[in-house]
Amino acid sequence: FPLCQNMGTKSLCLLLASVLVASYVYTPIPENIEERWKLMLINAGFRTVSHVVSLEFYLLQVRSHHVLQNLYSFLYSLSYENVTVTDTKFNNVPARLYMPRKQSSGLKRAVIYIHGGGWLTYFISAMEPYDLLSRWTANKLNAVVVSVEYRLAPMYHFPVQFEDVYTVVKFFLQNSVLVQYGVDPNRICISGDSAGGNLAAAVAQQLLDDLEVKVKLKIQALLYPALQTLDLDLPSYKDNENKPILPKSLMVRFWSEYFTTDVSLQEAMASNKHVPAESSHLFRFVNWSNLLPEKFKKDHVYASPIYGSSMLGKKYPGFLDPRAAPLLVEDTKLLGLPVTYVLTCQHDVLRDDGIMYVSRLREVGIEVIHDHIEDAIHGVLMFITSPTDLALGHRVANKYIEWLNINL
Ligand SMILES: *[C@@H]1O[C@H](CO)[C@@H](O)[C@H](O)[C@H]1NC(C)=O
Ligand SMILES: *[C@@H]1O[C@H](CO)[C@@H](O)[C@H](O)[C@H]1NC(C)=O
Repeated sequence: FPLCQNMGTKSLCLLLASVLVASYVYTPIPENIEERWKLMLINAGFRTVSHVVSLEFYLLQVRSHHVLQNLYSFLYSLSYENVTVTDTKFNNVPARLYMPRKQSSGLKRAVIYIHGGGWLTYFISAMEPYDLLSRWTANKLNAVVVSVEYRLAPMYHFPVQFEDVYTVVKFFLQNSVLVQYGVDPNRICISGDSAGGNLAAAVAQQLLDDLEVKVKLKIQALLYPALQTLDLDLPSYKDNENKPILPKSLMVRFWSEYFTTDVSLQEAMASNKHVPAESSHLFRFVNWSNLLPEKFKKDHVYASPIYGSSMLGKKYPGFLDPRAAPLLVEDTKLLGLPVTYVLTCQHDVLRDDGIMYVSRLREVGIEVIHDHIEDAIHGVLMFITSPTDLALGHRVANKYIEWLNINL
């Protein structure tokens, strides 16, 4: 800037620039969270990535994820000391297989891991922490880990993501396949975080009705899962609307783009007026007034739903489908689910989805272990790799893996 050339205006420009940068980076961070400045920087980085990538997608139509994916494979497929990693396909769906190298007599345990990322390609470059988590799990449990590389929005919409995961899980649960990998059919877990927790919960439910699948899951681990699309004004959405990593606006975008790139659904979801009156009977499955403990209701007042046009529900029936929103099933469909571990974070728009599922599962007698982390934000398990690692991420990852080790 020619304007910024003499000394006086130079310092003014510098001041202005710092204010701009600071206001971009600054996000209010909840009181009880440690490493606040680091989290603030990470959050600014995330926002930048999502802006840049969405610009590419929507303005230039660049398929940037191919480039990122290749780079990612190159950098991270290097084998971890004790685990052999191979990319394979189960019934034509790509999956990454982590096999412990340690020789052991007897059969191994297995964890089928479904990664998060909003069902979208934006954060594909954030796959490194998922890869590391799978390696840690394989190493610590001496277990086979299968990570499903399902197809993503905005190129693919529901039910493609669900079906890809279902295909891999169903393929893996065949006795002949388990024998091939030396897996104990009585010690298999399905696990996933965020959008992956959504897919894990949905697949675990749908497997119950599949007569072709004889092997039963021993446990499911749902890590800050997204479980319902009906009410996007739950207390957790209100309390955490602008919290780091996953503001409400981004979650609304994830949900709507899971079904369509048509922005009319996104707009309707943003104002929580997307559910048609014909589907009013579904609201009892997500009635937070009954399903949340007092502690989480705080001073929020339950209001009856406001219905939207029936057009959206007809055009995009996916958002009313339990394969996308596992909280929308009848109680009888919950019977027979395996022992369930649910991890929820206090400062997370998805907090109440997880808590309501805990209530519903317990009401029908499913054994649930609920870990609620008071000082955590959404996505903590992604913050385990330098330079974006947080002590919190390591603490929560260790807790989860330790739980698996004891219970699987
Ligand atoms: C590999 O396994 C050995 C023996 O269990 C252990 O001491 C070592 O820490 C493991 N390596 C890694 C990178 O975890
Ligand atoms: C939700 O629960 C409250 C309190 O039990 C009840 O008054 C309300 O009618 C319920 N609403 C729906 C849609 O189920």
